[in-house]
Amino acid sequence: MSSTKKVKDSHTIMTQLIMPNDTNHLGNLMGGVMMRWMDIVCALSAMRHCNTPVVTAAVDHISFQQPIDLGSMITLEGFVTRTFRTSLEVFVEVYSEDLKGTKTKCNDAFFTFVSLDEDTKRPSKAPGIIPESKREKELFEGALRRRDLRLIMAGRMDPKSADHLKKIFS
Ligand SMILES: CC(C)(COP(=O)(O)OP(=O)(O)OC[C@H]1O[C@@H](n2cnc3c(N)ncnc32)[C@H](O)[C@@H]1OP(=O)(O)O)[C@@H](O)C(=O)NCCC(=O)NCCS
Repeated sequence: MSSTKKVKDSHTIMTQLIMPNDTNHLGNLMGGVMMRWMDIVCALSAMRHCNTPVVTAAVDHISFQQPIDLGSMITLEGFVTRTFRTSLEVFVEVYSEDLKGTKTKCNDAFFTFVSLDEDTKRPSKAPGIIPESKREKELFEGALRRRDLRLIMAGRMDPKSADHLKKIFS
C-alpha cells in the first residue's frame, strides 16, 4: 500500500500505571521498561501509517530527564513525522502524571521503522505523508537531517554525501 496519509492518522496514545514489576531497585520506572513501551507505541504508529508489518531499524538518542515513581501514570504519544522509501521516522513523547493530575514531560525519542511486505518480509514502499500543523511541518523538515546523521552513525552513508546535514553548518 502506498497512498499518501496525514500525520494525524498515525497518532497513537498509550497510558500505563507503573507497577512494582516495572521498577528498578530504587522504586523508579526502569529505563528498559520505558524503552519497550516507547518501541511499542512507535511500532503501532508506523503500522497504522503503513498498514503492513514493520520492524525497528534504529533508535536515536534517549535520555531520562525525570525519575518516574512507582504508582505514577505515564502517557506515551507517538506519530509518524516523515517517510522515506521503505523507512519512516516516528516521534514519541512521554509524560508522567501524579495523583493530582500534574503532567511532566519525561523524555522523547525518534525511532526508525521499515515497512515490510507481508509475504516476502522484505522492505516495501511506505506511503507518503502530509504534515499539516506548524510543528508537524518542522518535524517533517528536520527528519532529513536526522536521517543523514543516523545513516552515517550506522555506517550506511558516507558523511561526504550528507547534504541535508551539511546545510546546518553552511
Ligand atoms: C531493517 C532491515 C529490514 C533493513 O534491511 P536491509 O536489507 O538493510 O534493507 P535496505 O538496505 O533496503 O534498507 C531498508 C531501509 O532501512 C533503512 N535502514 C536500514 N538500517 C537503518 C539504520 N540503522 N538507521 C536508519 N535507517 C536504516 C534504509 O535506509 C532503508 O531506508 P529507505 O528504503 O527509506 O531508503 C533489516 O536490517 C532488519 O531486518 N533488521 C532487523 C530488524 C529487527 O529485528 N528489529 C528489531 C530489533 S530487536
